[in-house]
Amino acid sequence: MELLLTVSRDRPDTLRTQIEVQLRTAIRDGSLRPATVVPSTRDLAAQLGCSRRVVADAYAQLAAEGYLALRQGARPRVADGPFRPVAAEDRGVPPERSSGTPRSLLPDATPPVRFDFRPARPDVSAFPREAWSRCLRDAVGEITVADLGYGDPFGVDALRESIAGYLGRVRGVVADPACVVVTNGYLPGLGLVCRALAARGARRIALEDPSSWDHDHIVARAGLEPVRVPVDDRGLRVDLLDAAHVQAVVLTPAHQHPTGVVLTPGRRAELVTWLRRHDAIAIEDDYDAEYRYDRPAVGALQGLDRDHVVYAGTASKVLAPALRLGWMVVPAALAADIRHERMLSDQGTARIEQLAFARFLERGDLDRHLRRMRLRYRARRDVMIEALAADLPGARVCGIAAGLHVTVELPGAGDETGIRRAAGAAGIALGALTDYRTGRDRPATLILGYAQMSEGRIRGGVHELARVIRDVRRSAAGTPAGRPAGRGEEY
Ligand SMILES: Cc1ncc(COP(=O)(O)O)c(C=O)c1O
Repeated sequence: MELLLTVSRDRPDTLRTQIEVQLRTAIRDGSLRPATVVPSTRDLAAQLGCSRRVVADAYAQLAAEGYLALRQGARPRVADGPFRPVAAEDRGVPPERSSGTPRSLLPDATPPVRFDFRPARPDVSAFPREAWSRCLRDAVGEITVADLGYGDPFGVDALRESIAGYLGRVRGVVADPACVVVTNGYLPGLGLVCRALAARGARRIALEDPSSWDHDHIVARAGLEPVRVPVDDRGLRVDLLDAAHVQAVVLTPAHQHPTGVVLTPGRRAELVTWLRRHDAIAIEDDYDAEYRYDRPAVGALQGLDRDHVVYAGTASKVLAPALRLGWMVVPAALAADIRHERMLSDQGTARIEQLAFARFLERGDLDRHLRRMRLRYRARRDVMIEALAADLPGARVCGIAAGLHVTVELPGAGDETGIRRAAGAAGIALGALTDYRTGRDRPATLILGYAQMSEGRIRGGVHELARVIRDVRRSAAGTPAGRPAGRGEEY
């Protein structure tokens, strides 16, 4: 076992001190985690070319300070704690860098959540483990020697062909496999396209208002200035794009995230005219179009103009975010710049997983999984709507019957941030429109995901949420909390 330590006899401090300081720092900043086995005194002494006594003394000191656990006959380990990683500021990281990560990009928080209404999350417990394992095993067995190299950064040919076929069949996308790019999910793909656009001279890019703040951060990192353009009940206000002075636009036409509206045929035509007039690019985020419950999904915008639209899809909603797998169909004229940017970043997506996904598509496993999940999500959505009508009769559900969440306006219910805080304290996790919008032109609006809970849990969660909302409203009005709703009271 080796440990990354360096010591030098030319330095003024002793070898023992050098070992102690490096180990203490590594344990405190978390690079050596609790319970990690460290080399024996004999091994470390051999690695560093010093006497065993020196290492034993350093270990004894660290054990006395509580950093190492030394027991007769057992291998030395990092003690169980309590070590807190050193604060970023103490490590000399400027505060704005350490705190700059958008909240929604941070790993999931782990407070005890009783009812999980967080939006945009599929039911990962239904992940088709058997089918995926079969595809993965076959991919490992069949991958050619050539495919085990770096290969085309756009992806393996078999998958690009399968994706082109699948998207043409289910989304009306016009896809030449040469223009299909396999990505590590939508968000990395967005960054990639934005960097390519910036390298071609684009400066400003329109984002829907409301839409996730993550996108503002990602496009800004690529060197583009994000400009918010409002959405109304017919989708993006295309008539405002001229005044925004943008060279590109990101939108969710099939199911606006998070309001749930569809970009109307009239707006689609207007947008294509605008794109052609300005030779601009639209990035179509088709994140959950597979889930439409009332009618077949509207075809992709890309089908109307393959030269001005980047189509982007993801496995995060149809299978699991953990796969980190997505796909784009890019205009032929942009392909070389995107390939160049890909070469300068991650150089492609894991190729064995790509082959597994190609098999998953070819064998019809994705279609089968989607048929099953559509039924499950539709039933959950129906229960959600019924429960909202029963427990929150003043609430208004916006948008179409699609996706994995509902957008719920609560006229007169007060402040959505206060509702979310109180809900969190009651063990109910949910989204709110503040996560997505710039203005406050709408009533308190909650974004409630229904994909992750059984129908019974959804009913129970909505009932509990309604109680929280009533309490928040009453405490704002100075009335005691916990009283049952009176006649005529909607919340
Ligand atoms: C609007 C929208 N698009 C796309 C994605 C998927 O991103 P990714 O493929 O990077 O997981 C998400 C994830 O939550 C989303 O909310």
